Amino acid sequence: MNPFQSARLSAKAFGDNFLWGVAIAAQQNEGGHNVGGRGVSIWDVFSRRNGKIKGGTNPLVSCDFYHRYKEDLLLAKALGFNSFRFSISWPRILPEGIGRVNKEGIAFYNKLIDECLELGLTPLVTLYHWDLPQPLEKEGGWTSYRMQRWFARFATVCAEEFGDRVKNWIVLNEPASFTSLGYMLGKHAPGKTGLTNYFSAIHQAVLAQADGGEILRALVHKSYIGTTFSCSEVLPFSTKEEDVLAAKRVDVILNRLFIEPALGRGYPQDDFKLIERLEIHNKAWKYTDRMHFKFDFIGLQNYFPVVVRHNSIIPHIHASEVKAATRKVPHTGLGWEVNAESFYRIIKRFWLYGTVKEILITENGAAYKDEVKNAVVNDEQRVDYFKQHLQAALRAKHEGVNIKGYYAWTLTDNFEWAEGYKARFGLIHVDFKTQLRTIKNSGYWFRDFLKQA
Ligand code: BGC
Repeated sequence: MNPFQSARLSAKAFGDNFLWGVAIAAQQNEGGHNVGGRGVSIWDVFSRRNGKIKGGTNPLVSCDFYHRYKEDLLLAKALGFNSFRFSISWPRILPEGIGRVNKEGIAFYNKLIDECLELGLTPLVTLYHWDLPQPLEKEGGWTSYRMQRWFARFATVCAEEFGDRVKNWIVLNEPASFTSLGYMLGKHAPGKTGLTNYFSAIHQAVLAQADGGEILRALVHKSYIGTTFSCSEVLPFSTKEEDVLAAKRVDVILNRLFIEPALGRGYPQDDFKLIERLEIHNKAWKYTDRMHFKFDFIGLQNYFPVVVRHNSIIPHIHASEVKAATRKVPHTGLGWEVNAESFYRIIKRFWLYGTVKEILITENGAAYKDEVKNAVVNDEQRVDYFKQHLQAALRAKHEGVNIKGYYAWTLTDNFEWAEGYKARFGLIHVDFKTQLRTIKNSGYWFRDFLKQA
């Protein structure tokens, strides 16, 4: 018997008080870039650079959540969710990054939080989902040691303004992604490259991760604090030693770099010699303790596994990905392998650290080319993706992993970073010309599934 089918999939099987949510992010959904006193973010600026975003698009309007949040929250509620994950736009709260607080920005999030609570959607709030204020980037952004002060200020304002009603917090969204894509590879904002930028950004993000946790714990009464990690099982393309070693190096970068310091283990230096250089930052300031924070939960975000082979041409890491299409395995519209067993294994793997208290699956989902035909979006592939991945999560939960919630990425189609608007991840289709929302079949599937919860 296929073990993945062993427990019958139902929402009830995940237990009472399970958090069922949808996740969005300020920069991807809000739009309203020049209203309500919002400052400029690194993505506003980066998207103006030629060739950086597919289709030459930008996030300035996106799906206009800033003006349509009530409608979107009602949709989330109508689909049966009991929790809503969103992020706070740093430039909307502190337009210059530090200093002056923008009252209108605070008022917007107050309305959003109150509306969530009224609808019975428990807010799960991310402090940083990649939209750094541009004035801070001019001062070095995540590569600057002053980030410790800047981030503390932002976290403090958010905790003081919203902590009376928001109890569930995420400090950072996927630091492994924004440091590597934004500061090493130049594919995301702010478009910086090189090891010096990358390593400084990693160290500042690791410190912000712990500092943010400390600040929230000190200021928010009865808080439930986590941070999120992107995770992908990394498999060698062959059993050749060079491929196996390449997979271990990639694993350090994709899966271990941020959780291990948070768990008090310092930087993962085995398996990838280069990481020793990070110790230059650590040794000088003896930060191992400060990097450690006892999170109440960790957020895991998984989309696909990665298969790698040794490749001496690629600097530093000497590895490259063997894409799903090349391996002729099922994949999404973005070419990401669909593999729910791998999702199960990576959840177990993070649980095996032994000191993780609880896990929320804070993102999981798939992008396909969706089309509206006669007011219907028939996205059966996405329905299958969710069924398989929920089944895998349920198996892990039945085997003792303390999974407390699941958040689908994402509510509505939105700005998918460098991929622009073509990659549609939503349970709800958005016509970006008219802002018309159409619930996809996957949205209806969730509604029926959650009815039994
Ligand atoms: C990010 C989201 C993103 C999603 C799909 C995650 O890496 O947190 O912002 O849209 O993956 O790419």
